[in-house]
Amino acid sequence: MKKIENYIAKNINEYNDLYNKSLSNPENFWSEIASTFSWRNKWTKTLEYDFNKPEFKWFLNGKLNITENCLDRHVQSNPNKTAILFEPNDPNQSAQKISYKELHRRVCVFANVLKSKSIKKGDRVCIYMPMVPELTVAVLACARIGAVHSVVFAGFSATALAARIKDSKCKVLLTADGSFRGSKVIDLKSIVDEALLDCNSITSTIVLKRIGSMIKMNINESWWHEEIKNVSDYCIAEEMDSEDMLFILYTSGSTGKPKGMVHSCGGYMVYSSYTFLNVFQYSPNDIYWCTADIGWITGHSYIVYGPLLSGATSVMFEGVPSYPDFSRFWNIVEKHKITHFYTAPTAIRALAKHPISLVESNDLSSLKVLGTVGEPINEEAWNWYDKNVGKSKCPIVDTWWQTETGGIMLSSLAGVTKDKPTYATKPMIGIQPVLMDKDGKEIIEYGKEGILAIKYPWPSIARTIYGNHERYKNVYFTAYPGYYFPGDGALTDSEGNFRITGRVDDVVIVSGHNLGTAPIEDAINLHKNVVESAVVGYPHEIKGNALRAFVILLNNDSNVDMAKEIKDLISKTIGPIAKPDIIQVVPGLPKTRSGKIMRRILRKIASGEKENFGDISTLLNPEIVDKIVKSS
Ligand code: PRX
Repeated sequence: MKKIENYIAKNINEYNDLYNKSLSNPENFWSEIASTFSWRNKWTKTLEYDFNKPEFKWFLNGKLNITENCLDRHVQSNPNKTAILFEPNDPNQSAQKISYKELHRRVCVFANVLKSKSIKKGDRVCIYMPMVPELTVAVLACARIGAVHSVVFAGFSATALAARIKDSKCKVLLTADGSFRGSKVIDLKSIVDEALLDCNSITSTIVLKRIGSMIKMNINESWWHEEIKNVSDYCIAEEMDSEDMLFILYTSGSTGKPKGMVHSCGGYMVYSSYTFLNVFQYSPNDIYWCTADIGWITGHSYIVYGPLLSGATSVMFEGVPSYPDFSRFWNIVEKHKITHFYTAPTAIRALAKHPISLVESNDLSSLKVLGTVGEPINEEAWNWYDKNVGKSKCPIVDTWWQTETGGIMLSSLAGVTKDKPTYATKPMIGIQPVLMDKDGKEIIEYGKEGILAIKYPWPSIARTIYGNHERYKNVYFTAYPGYYFPGDGALTDSEGNFRITGRVDDVVIVSGHNLGTAPIEDAINLHKNVVESAVVGYPHEIKGNALRAFVILLNNDSNVDMAKEIKDLISKTIGPIAKPDIIQVVPGLPKTRSGKIMRRILRKIASGEKENFGDISTLLNPEIVDKIVKSS
């Protein structure tokens, strides 16, 4: 049987060959890739799909457990290889190396803890934890026994956590007494306590001792370190169908309710590993570091699953780039001889603002490949990254993808296909991106701008929105029937390289975080003195985009700091990441005759425009535009 290495493009000709093969006979192609993994039973059919339902099934009737592929395979071939290299928040604490064998043991132990809490295949487990190895253990322990993990980023508020727990009716919650974030200690347990007042599906909560503070344990709550004492380290992996749910991960949308994107076992396994190896060109002795948090899809696919499926050494970093100072990332690169460094453009822009000596005082010669993800990267940041971090010798992979796509969709392959500043460049093998014009027709010529759509299914496409298939259909499959609609605009250059131009819906990418404006408006409108609000994004030098809220108040009492009250309310309802930079009190909002807010105009005002608003004659209240400009 062939190995996956046989399908990794090593030069441009191989990329072209594999790409053509993946298009001319996708089922055959993906079947060959899937055969390189370990399955209990082979699939009977590679793909069944219907864009109208919409329904996508890959490797039908195939049986597997993803953790056997992430762990057991490597325990047999290379047990002592480091799977997770953990760098704690405090640089004076030692890093930890966890081998594949040890990770396997810890996962089996914790899987047995979950079983002891009556967790069975299909049950949902919410994970609200800091970036520590136990988070990876928790994720894989769920997968081991077929429980569905729903990781909630530990920066979300109690209200946001509760909404996610309730939406998927999680039975168990895994958390910690607190988390370290730079010089701050975050009291996670209090947030959990508040969230749980409102979640009756949770029957047990297991708390990891991370900061060691005195906390109150409630009924049905227990300590992680106590639980693991009582169970064995032997746990047979549950047999899963390829299409069984592996995890739910929430992402923002154009309405207040987050979307629980559902990923399934077989297709996600094949695609996350295949893209990891192709894009990053990882070789066995490399040390790969993705700086994302496992609370986001980047962490799921390219800290946990993609690297571990591929037998890689994956670095987990608990801290922040600014602690103890802005050289932390570069200290870590030197310390662990990182070969692959994958981060967000926001981090690059923030680090570029600090003295270059902070970079230069570290030996970065181990670096071979750089990557970016989550938002468009501007040319200046790209050049800074290339010159100062990559020393003009490391390819930069600009990877475009989404929570919904499960894995990288557009990117160069490091050192194999050409990179180009600000361009995500070419499709991944097996992916058919197209640009649509305003009439919903494919734009065939290169060098044009349009709306991005994907033409054919790929193995890790999200299968549904948990509990709301209708919404899944409406959001992703109605704009262009027969295509997946990701919600991004894009253009191509004369060689067919893709450049993402930004969102075309009411989602704003702030510091690489996908934020819906609707949930933020819902939070603002909870304030008793707010009549109505509209939130828009505007370009920001470091964060890519920032948010500005336009708010109509019931009473304009100058003694009350409304901006602060609104920001606090947003922190409490969603989390600090969703706080607008500017809150502007306005006498009214520009509305169409049907009552819809004309966000286009607000976006222009937020970007500093004072007079060129185009045709505003269709507005019900055109005079308001000038008033808003004057009050800003
Ligand atoms: O707008 C695109 C932007 O991030 C969105 C997806 O956000 P999320 O689901 O949170 O996943 C982020 C990490 C994969 C996309 O619709 N985006 C992501 N990567 C890029 C990007 N925009 C431009 N260039 C990228 N490389």
